[in-house]
Amino acid sequence: MKKILSVFLVLAALSFLYVEKGIAEDSMEKAKALWDMMQSDKYQETWALYPGKGKFYKGQEPHGMLLTTYVNTAADEGLKSGAKELPKGSILIKENYKPDKTLAAITVMDKTGDGKDDWFWVKYTPDGSVAKKGEMSLAGKPGGCIGCHAASTSGIHNIMTGLPE
Ligand code: HEC
Repeated sequence: MKKILSVFLVLAALSFLYVEKGIAEDSMEKAKALWDMMQSDKYQETWALYPGKGKFYKGQEPHGMLLTTYVNTAADEGLKSGAKELPKGSILIKENYKPDKTLAAITVMDKTGDGKDDWFWVKYTPDGSVAKKGEMSLAGKPGGCIGCHAASTSGIHNIMTGLPE
């Protein structure tokens, strides 16, 4: 009986790892497709800037000193409408610049469903590869992104993108 149980536990652990790996691979594929879409859409030329913000506005840690945030039509309309939630399909692209205006990273939020937590998060390096924190690729639902955005009480951000007003 004990043996059956341990075989079962090993199988359960393996299938869990397998599912985790599958999710990680899906996230990398989605990150790649999203990057390709951003480039073919030429978002820097065709998307709106975050309502009320210009280029190179002053940011906070960890996003860098200077930020430029682009929003697609769904996000732009959602932000302007004052709705509590941004609609499915909303995408926000934040370019994170160093004080000398060299691009350091690009962080993106893509709303994949109707729910409050249905965001796909990704951090790219300037060449379009997915950034890493240690061994972990920052694509999908990285705890760091979600944790800070959900926990922020500093009053800097809009509830619709996950940060309290
Ligand atoms: C320690 C806190 C913190 C962490 C961690 C964090 N963010 Fe943010 N994020 C912010 C703050 C604060 C803003 C508001 C912009 C600003 O002034 O910096 C923001 C804004 C954004 C925006 C622009 C949307 C908007 O409403 O301004 C995107 C996109 C974004 N973050 C993506 C990410 C991604 C992807 C990660 C993980 C790789 C991440 N963030 C991790 C604090 C955080």
